[in-house]
Amino acid sequence: MVTPAAPVLVLNGPNLNLLGLREPAIYGTDTLDTIERLCHDTGKGLGLRVECRQSNHEGVLIDAVQEARTAHRGIVINPAGYSHTSVALRDALAAVGLPVVEVHLSNIHRREEFRHHSYVSGVADAVICGAGAHGYALALTHLARLIAVD
Ligand code: DQA
Repeated sequence: MVTPAAPVLVLNGPNLNLLGLREPAIYGTDTLDTIERLCHDTGKGLGLRVECRQSNHEGVLIDAVQEARTAHRGIVINPAGYSHTSVALRDALAAVGLPVVEVHLSNIHRREEFRHHSYVSGVADAVICGAGAHGYALALTHLARLIAVD
């Protein structure tokens, strides 16, 4: 049972620890640290406590999603490369039954064809892509709404 005061989880997948250095023309110049600060600040304004995690490992992301079932009220996730490959991550999100908002910094639909499909989108309540770092603020704002009507 998740307590009403439980935090929300912002989960970032592989290579997002390299933000700032990584293909800035696509992903922007904000670092993961800056994005996580934006998430904490946005959460504060919404009355949500935010916890942020990042991993380059599929199993670690799945463990984080499973742990969120009893520890968090909802999930904002940028599954990064695993969006396009991971049935297991999708299954974990479906299993925990929490509100989920998927975020991508870039507009994956304007990029290579292999990025157009995300396994996660089919189990997400909403998907935000192409808004850069601001997408995380939008995602948290929508998550707060989903939690409020839950
Ligand atoms: C991404 C888009 C993915 O296709 C890519 O593999 C990423 C980042 C984004 O935020 O735009 O690592 O999720």
